[in-house]
Amino acid sequence: MNVLQGRKIVLIVSGGVAAYKSAELVRLLVKAGVDVHVVLTAAGARFVTAVTFQALSGNAVWSDLWDPRMPNNMAHIDLTRDADAIMIAPASADLLAKLANGLADDLTTTLCLARDCPLIVAPAMNRQMWEHPATMRNMRVLRDDGVTVLGPDSGEQACGEVGLGRMLEAEHLFLRLEVFFGPKTLAGRKVVLTAGPTFEAIDPVRGITNSSSGKMGYALARACVIAGAEVVLVSGPTALPVPDGVCRLSVASALEMREAVASVVDGADVFIGVAAVADYRPDRSAEHKIKKSGEAMQLTLVPNPDILAEVAARPDAPFCVGFAAESRDLDHYAEGKRKNKGLDMVVGNLVREGLGLDDNLVVLYDRGGRHPLPRATKAELAHGIVAHLAGLLNAHSLTRS
Ligand code: PMT
Repeated sequence: MNVLQGRKIVLIVSGGVAAYKSAELVRLLVKAGVDVHVVLTAAGARFVTAVTFQALSGNAVWSDLWDPRMPNNMAHIDLTRDADAIMIAPASADLLAKLANGLADDLTTTLCLARDCPLIVAPAMNRQMWEHPATMRNMRVLRDDGVTVLGPDSGEQACGEVGLGRMLEAEHLFLRLEVFFGPKTLAGRKVVLTAGPTFEAIDPVRGITNSSSGKMGYALARACVIAGAEVVLVSGPTALPVPDGVCRLSVASALEMREAVASVVDGADVFIGVAAVADYRPDRSAEHKIKKSGEAMQLTLVPNPDILAEVAARPDAPFCVGFAAESRDLDHYAEGKRKNKGLDMVVGNLVREGLGLDDNLVVLYDRGGRHPLPRATKAELAHGIVAHLAGLLNAHSLTRS
């Protein structure tokens, strides 16, 4: 289940070009099962209309402190009493200044002053406004008051200038909200993962690979970030973007993957091998493109090192999790891999329909037995896998200490 599902968020949209990104944020939140109530300031309404937010959220949009639709005329109290958070995106310099000074002269500021839930702000403004000592002073006050500040980002601005002040993209804000609400089961832990396929070159333009998309590994990397971990992802070739908060090392072959893992695994608490690493590689890669001759041709394949087994055999081995993709006898093969490679946990998946799908059916194997998870999207499964491994890891750390 998504950590945001069933939550109520009051989203205040103040004046700024970035208000268009808030429409996308509402869409993402609603898709995740969040009950979103939008408060649109007069300046915000100059950029995006209330109709857009009403259609996307499925809820009435509020703007006026004296709105008669609230039976007791107390929108500033009632809107937030059962809310899990108030989020302001975009948060203008003017609104942040008002909040830092405790003003309460309209619905937005009154809501924030009268709240009993967390306040999260995503600033958006011109870089000179952001860097101005007054804004910096206001931000210090707000942070001291316990307000969570997301961003701003750096880059090209609507005014044409370049610098800090852009509001984070909707997907980034969504992830930050997941991080904010998610249980920090991996706080203070370093997690190294492998993901995707490997590419074993035959010549400069050809090679042996497989159809792993990287989706499972990337979803797990993201779930580990949400659980509070420092995450390094060693990835074979994929078309996926780097998940926010993840340090990605891109590799092609199994040998490169092994070298990259060795360079980052020292001090890791957890190693998760999600990659579909080629078991064999051509004994040599031709320097130039191999020409067609009409004759039969033979490739000699030599075994690749087993990266996961090597990490698990280290004297200072982290908690090791392997994956097993099988088309039959899942219990037998997955449990066999766990024991043979000396792993703490294996995630077994039946892949009769191939790799690269958006959902998956997995069973977790550990010393305590087998634990099936219901079929779900890879993003949802990733949270279930992290919750299970975090439980084992904490027990593991206790027995070690
Ligand atoms: O990327 P997706 O399209 O989302 O698909 C996800 C997946 C099916 C690739 C993933 O869920 C998965 O099951 N990955 C493991 C594939 C597999 O069966 O690997 P294996 O049986 O060859 O290896 C078992 C374990 O050892 C794996 O953790 C693997 O990463 C690791 N291994 C294997 C060989 C090798 N040389 N080095 C390794 O580290």
